[in-house]
Amino acid sequence: MSKYLPLWPDQASTMASQVDALYIYLLFIAGVMTALIFIAVAVLAIKYRRQPGREAVQIEGSLPLEISWSVIPFFVMLTFFIWGGVIYFKERTPPADSTEVYVVAKQWMWKIEHMEGQREINELHVPTGQDVKLIMTSQDVIHSFFVPAFRLKQDVLPGRYTTLWFKATKPGRYHLFCAEYCGTNHSGMGGDIIVMDPQDYAMWAAGGTSAPLQETGKELFAAFGCSTCHRSDAEGRGPSLQGVYNSPVVLEDGRTVTADENYVRESILDPTAKIVKGFKPVMPAFQGIVSEEQLNALVAYVKSLAQPPTGTAGLQNQPAASPAQPQNMQVQ
Ligand code: CUA
Repeated sequence: MSKYLPLWPDQASTMASQVDALYIYLLFIAGVMTALIFIAVAVLAIKYRRQPGREAVQIEGSLPLEISWSVIPFFVMLTFFIWGGVIYFKERTPPADSTEVYVVAKQWMWKIEHMEGQREINELHVPTGQDVKLIMTSQDVIHSFFVPAFRLKQDVLPGRYTTLWFKATKPGRYHLFCAEYCGTNHSGMGGDIIVMDPQDYAMWAAGGTSAPLQETGKELFAAFGCSTCHRSDAEGRGPSLQGVYNSPVVLEDGRTVTADENYVRESILDPTAKIVKGFKPVMPAFQGIVSEEQLNALVAYVKSLAQPPTGTAGLQNQPAASPAQPQNMQVQ
């Protein structure tokens, strides 16, 4: 598309051509409607212009006409809604096997953390052909992550996670903009998305020296003392976090919530907001104690905790459990 139209941005993600198709359709319908109205105005103005001997006549209206010019446009507009809805839900639903990348926005930069531990500022390296899910938050005010070549924009909010996913299709360097006015240097808060062939990306990724994000999270989990209460054997003062991610959690007030990223995040910063059934609100709040980066690492670690081992296979997998122990000791 950008080959033919110099003002059209590159199409560099799987969603780009779909968004463009809808956009062209909107332009086409708007063009047709505008032309019909203007032609009608011009033709009728000439046809019924003032002439000697012509008198104005009052018209009392026509029900069939009223209905047709209400109902036909209604169904035409409904196609915008349905088509737009289909694209919206595609863009909102990250595929299950997406690579995850954490993004922290602040005045006035983008901080990127990859699961393998690489960190970047105002740059995001991704391979082509890979679904990438961004888990984003802001350290201060509202920002917005905008990549025109991907046809994607998502606000980035303080105090919670918002997500975005894409699959890049074409190697290259694409603009990243902040699309929400966020203070003096808002216009300078940009960067680049660097899309690479998978082989090039593997070489780039191997260049990192830092620990994987969930490893950093595991260290923090011990350093902040989380591990003393959230024990994997479910004997601690806090609920075991094994396999908690993406699973339903029953709360003390009877509600059931899904332990998504925002749940884990909130449970760290403000633990009394949602008390797990059967537990006391004894956990201290970590609001103001952990940084956004530490929080991301902790969330990544909690997400990495696998389902708890069950049954006899589980006992074999637990080196700490004595083989002489009867199996039902587990449930005490
Ligand atoms: Cu950040 Cu505008």
